[in-house]
Amino acid sequence: MKAIILKEAGGPENLVIKDIPVPVPKKDEVLVKVKAISVNPVDIKTRKGLSLYNELKNDEPIILGWDIAGEVVQTGEDVTSLEEGDEVFGMINFPGHGKAYAEYVTAPANHLAEKPDLISTQEAAAGTLAALTAWQVLLDEAKLQAGEKILIHAAAGGVGHFAVQIAKYLGAYVIGTASEANYDFVKELGADDFVDYTKEKFEDIVKDADVVFDTVGGDNPLRSLAVLKEGGRLVAIAGGITDEVTEIAKSKKIKAWRHLVHSNGDDMEQIAELMEAGTIKAYIFKEYPFEEIAEAHRQIETGKTRGKVIVIVQ
Ligand SMILES: NC(=O)c1ccc[n+]([C@@H]2O[C@H](COP(=O)([O-])OP(=O)(O)OC[C@H]3O[C@@H](n4cnc5c(N)ncnc54)[C@H](OP(=O)(O)O)[C@@H]3O)[C@@H](O)[C@H]2O)c1
Repeated sequence: MKAIILKEAGGPENLVIKDIPVPVPKKDEVLVKVKAISVNPVDIKTRKGLSLYNELKNDEPIILGWDIAGEVVQTGEDVTSLEEGDEVFGMINFPGHGKAYAEYVTAPANHLAEKPDLISTQEAAAGTLAALTAWQVLLDEAKLQAGEKILIHAAAGGVGHFAVQIAKYLGAYVIGTASEANYDFVKELGADDFVDYTKEKFEDIVKDADVVFDTVGGDNPLRSLAVLKEGGRLVAIAGGITDEVTEIAKSKKIKAWRHLVHSNGDDMEQIAELMEAGTIKAYIFKEYPFEEIAEAHRQIETGKTRGKVIVIVQ
C-alpha cells in the first residue's frame, strides 16, 4: 500500500510517498481502507520535530495523521461493534502513532464511530480531531451550561468552527473572535457576537464571560482572564497555562487549565449523531489529492484556514 512517510523532522518536502506492507489488526482493532483524512496543526508541529514527535521518533517508519474516514475491511477477533463493509470515521490513537497518512490503517474499534449515511466521506474526515476537541472541551472540561456566556477564540478555525456550533447547541451565548473576512462565516455558524481581533482588543469588548475557550495560545490565555467573571473557567488547547496565568486566575477564583484531546469512540458517536441531525456541519475549506499532502500542510501553516483541510486518499 502507499503511505506518506516522514523522512525526518523538517519541512513539508520531508513527506514522501512509499510502498509499505498493509498493517495487520490486533484483536481489538479493525483494518480500515482509508478514503479521506484531515490535516491538523498538530501534524505540522510534529512534522517539524515538536509536539508528538518525541513519541514517534523511534518508530520506523513515521507516518503522521490521526483523522480518518473509510471502510472497515477486516476485524480483529475480539471486535463485535463493527464489521466488514462498515463506513467509519474517527481520530485514532491520539496522542500516539496514528499512521493515518496511508491507504490502510489499523485502529482500535473503540476509537471509531459509524459514518452517518447523510454525511459525505470528506465531511466525516473533517469531523474528527477538531470536532472531538471542541466536544471534550465544552462538555467534559468546561461543562458549558445553557445560558452561559462563552468567548471562543479563532472561531473560524478547525476547532473553533465546531466549538461555536456545539456551544450554540448547548444553549450558550457565543462570542467568536476572527478577522473581518470571517465575519459572515462565524455569524452563520450561529455566533451571537463577533470580535475582529485585528481591529479591536477582545478584552475591551467582552465582559463577564463564564467560559473562555482559547485555541490561539501566546498571550491569549493571560489576556482572556480579563473577560472572565469571578469563578469563570478558561480552557486552553494551544500551548500551556503559565504560572502567571495560574496565579492571576487564582486571585479571581478562575479555574484555568489545558486540555489535550484523546481518542474516544463514544464521543465520536455523539458527534456522528449531531452531524447526522445537521446540528453541526463540517466546513471544508479545501481538498487535496494524496500526492499533494505537502500542500495541505502549507495551507494549515498559513494560520488562515477557514474550517478544515481534507486529503482524498482513494
Ligand atoms: N490540545 C489539544 O488537544 C488540541 C486539539 C486541537 C487543536 N489544538 C491546537 O489549537 C490550535 C488551533 O487549532 P485549529 O485546528 O483550530 O487551527 P486552524 O484551523 O489552523 O486555525 C486557523 C484559524 O485561526 C484563526 N486565527 C489565527 N490567529 C488568530 C487570533 N489571534 N485570534 C483569533 N483567530 C485567529 C484564523 O482566523 P482568521 O483567518 O480570521 O485570522 C483561522 O480561521 C492549534 O495550535 C492546534 O495545534 C490543540
